[in-house]
Amino acid sequence: MTRAIPEFSCTECGATRPKWSGRCDACGEWNTLVESVARPAGAPSARSGGPVRLREVDAAVGRPRATGIGELDRVLGGGVVPGSVTLLGGEPGIGKSTLLLQLLAGWDGPTLYVSAEESGQQVRLRAERLGADRPELWILAEIDMPAISAAIERVRPELVVVDSIQSVADPAVGSPPGSVAQVRACAHHLVAEAKRRDEPVVLVGHVTKEGGLAGPRALEHVVDTVLAFEGERHHALRLLRAVKHRFGPTGELGLFEMAGEGLAGVPDASRLFLADRRAGVAGSTVLPTMEGHRPLVVEVQALTTPIAPGVSGRRTTQGLDGGRLAMLLAVLERRVGIPVNGHDVYASTVGGVKVVEPGLDLALCAAVVSAVTGRALPADLAVFGEVGLGGEVRQVAHAARRLAEAARIGFTRAIVPANTPPGDHGIDALRVASITEALARADLFDDVGPASGLRAV
Ligand code: TYD
Ligand code: MG
Repeated sequence: MTRAIPEFSCTECGATRPKWSGRCDACGEWNTLVESVARPAGAPSARSGGPVRLREVDAAVGRPRATGIGELDRVLGGGVVPGSVTLLGGEPGIGKSTLLLQLLAGWDGPTLYVSAEESGQQVRLRAERLGADRPELWILAEIDMPAISAAIERVRPELVVVDSIQSVADPAVGSPPGSVAQVRACAHHLVAEAKRRDEPVVLVGHVTKEGGLAGPRALEHVVDTVLAFEGERHHALRLLRAVKHRFGPTGELGLFEMAGEGLAGVPDASRLFLADRRAGVAGSTVLPTMEGHRPLVVEVQALTTPIAPGVSGRRTTQGLDGGRLAMLLAVLERRVGIPVNGHDVYASTVGGVKVVEPGLDLALCAAVVSAVTGRALPADLAVFGEVGLGGEVRQVAHAARRLAEAARIGFTRAIVPANTPPGDHGIDALRVASITEALARADLFDDVGPASGLRAV
């Protein structure tokens, strides 16, 4: 006899606990623990056929099938693998349904779009706009899991999209849609069907503002691939990343732009990011950065305004880390003598891209000093490097790829860490060991100290 073990899971963070309590001790939320049923004690796992030697296991995975959406194929390492289950997570309104309708539009063969949130009419209207209303695209506006399974049996689709996994429910599970128990039960069901039919399934999962997959967080280990779709709501740019991928590396980045006719791939993002740049303006630097394996050239901006003595300055950031800015400002004040404490400082990356890698440091320092001194950096100059607390400039990864990308879009000089490996990248690499040296190379600093034009406070 096997017995189902009760278990309680948090609808916010997905943590599971053997006992109910009023507050989830993992995320601190109140009244979020609901009962779910774990695998019956002693029940054998469905896959186990006893031990075999590792080398006797068939290692051939189905070949990925290209989707025709270049940026999606790039992130997936070629395309969608047969029998795989992919979870596409993102905030509401970011473009998940749009991307997946475009995926279905380009698929050759029968496909099924399960819309658990929008009516058939709504999907039809959108599909027409996207050019996705082809005869072999089946639509099912349904939230009931058994009805979805029946439709899969009937249509025999080569690709199933379920939009979204939080909205479907199995009546056999007593909890409401969106609860961890429901999300898990439905996902397990769809995973089992994908494996049995050896056809791929894509699930949509809504993400909360904090970035966690609400409910479906508990799914991350159930699916083969987790894709994160991100972007600033007020910018057209969308970034697609593989957070987990059983069939390949996760470092690739896909870039899209939301336009009137759906999402368009952005193969040359660097040019897009720099399109509105006004060279010769103080407070602007150009940073060759890395997003996963992809080099991108982005503009970093700073604006500073002097404040009255004794008042503490405001620090505001967008697209970069406020803590990092505070640290760099302390280094500029203490090691270089730039009076940033006497200024409000606003810093941002342009174009809706977030930069969290250390190569940003030196570009941000140069932008701040340029803003404080009112002197613009030379227009053909790019800057990257990590800055230490001693004011030293440290090496960062992928210098060659950064330099090649900056050279490709027309920069002729770059300030780089002194220990950057040698090589010809079609660009003049100006090696610096300290911030002071970097500022001098950027014409922001002369022999005696910060360049003239510095407003004393
Ligand atoms: P949607 O795919 O519905 O987002 P999600 O499924 O992640 O909630 O897309 C939402 C936004 O995209 C919506 O506000 C309208 C906009 N949009 C366009 O700008 N162009 C288009 O062609 C489409 C289909 C949507
Ligand atoms: Mg949607």
